Amino acid sequence: MPRYTIVLLAVTLAFTPGVRADAPEAPHMADDPDRRAVIPMNPAGRDVVLAEMRMFLKGVQQIAAGLADDDIETAAAAARSLGLGMAETVPPEVAQQLPMEFRQLGRATHADFDQIAMDLEAMGDSRHALRQLGDTLNKCVACHATWRIETGDLGRGLRP
Ligand code: HEC
Repeated sequence: MPRYTIVLLAVTLAFTPGVRADAPEAPHMADDPDRRAVIPMNPAGRDVVLAEMRMFLKGVQQIAAGLADDDIETAAAAARSLGLGMAETVPPEVAQQLPMEFRQLGRATHADFDQIAMDLEAMGDSRHALRQLGDTLNKCVACHATWRIETGDLGRGLRP
């Protein structure tokens, strides 16, 4: 697209009522400085997701401590506990509240931990595991930069 077309488009959009301000999902969000995309969830669903998140952090702590102590077995077991097996414990009524891309990124993160566990068991190479962990943590970072969960008016309407 030629540059002037882009400028024209931008100016047009800027002055077209109702297009410029991406309709906020709820009135109270209009002036919310947090620009991450909102996932509306009911409180029970949010609780499940956040509990899973705390397990992620706990597991990452155990992996790091295990690798630092050359305790490959502990590190591998911790990584395995965060694998796809963990994703399967999320009840379907919770999973269905989550957007598809969110679920895909979540699954990819769990799959990474299975790979870390498998490689540790096969090679016992902590440096390799640390590199993998560093890559996997980028998925945590990316998701946290993109999404947040809201249980307000939006989430309350969802099935418990
Ligand atoms: C697919 C998306 C996604 C991935 C991947 C992800 N998280 Fe989260 N995490 C979230 C969301 C959404 C929240 C809630 C943020 C909010 O509502 O402000 C959260 C919250 C958390 C919290 C706070 C929990 C609480 O009790 O409040 C921790 C800790 C956390 N994540 C750790 C991790 C770690 C560690 C990883 C990677 C190993 C990870 N997360 C990967 C989406 C993700």
